[in-house]
Amino acid sequence: MVNIKTVSAKSIQEAAELIQAGKLVAFPTETVYGLGADATNGQAVAWVFEAKGRPQFNPLIVHVPDIKAAEELVEFNDMARLVAGHLWPGPFTLILPAKAGNNISDLCSAGLPTLAVRIPSHKVARDLLQAAAVPIAAPSANRSGSLSPTAPAHVADSLGDAVHMILAAGPCDVGLESTVLDLSEETPVLLRPGGITKERIEGILGCVVADHFDDDVSPKSPGQLLKHYAPSVPVRLGAIDLEPGEALLAFGSDQFMGIRGGGAAKDLPDHARRNLSAESDLCEAAANLFKMLHDLDRDEHKAIAVMNIPETGLGVAINDRLRRAARG
Ligand code: TXA
Ligand code: MG
Repeated sequence: MVNIKTVSAKSIQEAAELIQAGKLVAFPTETVYGLGADATNGQAVAWVFEAKGRPQFNPLIVHVPDIKAAEELVEFNDMARLVAGHLWPGPFTLILPAKAGNNISDLCSAGLPTLAVRIPSHKVARDLLQAAAVPIAAPSANRSGSLSPTAPAHVADSLGDAVHMILAAGPCDVGLESTVLDLSEETPVLLRPGGITKERIEGILGCVVADHFDDDVSPKSPGQLLKHYAPSVPVRLGAIDLEPGEALLAFGSDQFMGIRGGGAAKDLPDHARRNLSAESDLCEAAANLFKMLHDLDRDEHKAIAVMNIPETGLGVAINDRLRRAARG
């Protein structure tokens, strides 16, 4: 049974407690309904991808209640402060360099050094963010490939009981996803058109904004414009043993894996050995993926050898990312 609750002080509190417990809550924003999870909880964020059936780990928008909370997560520059002052709260997302040690799961940024942040204006979204007291990662609350949900019934139809609770508050006003502006580099780049027009942003900034629409908008060029994280050392997939000098990214047991020419994987030094999930749990593996790739991405390693990961459930998205990494 899908758990749909009408908005009230009580249901918002219940939703906040579910978020804090690592569960998924669909909630209204002024743009579309979001599928929310505690952005600091890697496993909860992994569940978002699982519930959406997304075959790829695209980065997610992290929602916060106010500028102060946003400044704890990302590095603001003068342009960012100016547009944020005009457009937040509202249907507008900023991509900025992530702050070191901000404890947001790597899965939110898909391993990139930047993070997408947004302050929604919808009263219920704001109340939920206040009550949950954690940043909430939320893509649109629909299965991958279906239409974005602008009413609670859309969410229920699309996600069913993959979502632990739907906080229902009627249809969304804007009905179109937020505008995504990348201010992480010198030139402002519009990555997704949305509730706020490019002309409006150019008017505020007093300069030209380039537009590079990503895969959400032009499905003909999936992944072309979105930058993807890839380690700087080579990645070798489907490893059943190691070459000397390789680091190991294991999945399941690595107890019996050998090193060609002699030695055992289990005796590798800590810097050369990580296990995505010793229990072969794909959700745990997804939560660990980017962090562990970063850990092993060191010049002293000839390559990162990755054990086989099943092509089912979250394994599809994990393998997609590993194949991109292996292509360099
Ligand atoms: O209106 C919205 O923005 C809704 C509501 C729920 O807030 N959320 C939403 O999220 O549309 P999602 O995951 O469907 O879209 C996030 C967009 C994608 O186009 C993604 O590629 C981009 O933001 N994005 C997120 N983080 C990024 C990053 N670090 N660099 C570049 N693009 C990023
Ligand atoms: Mg979407």
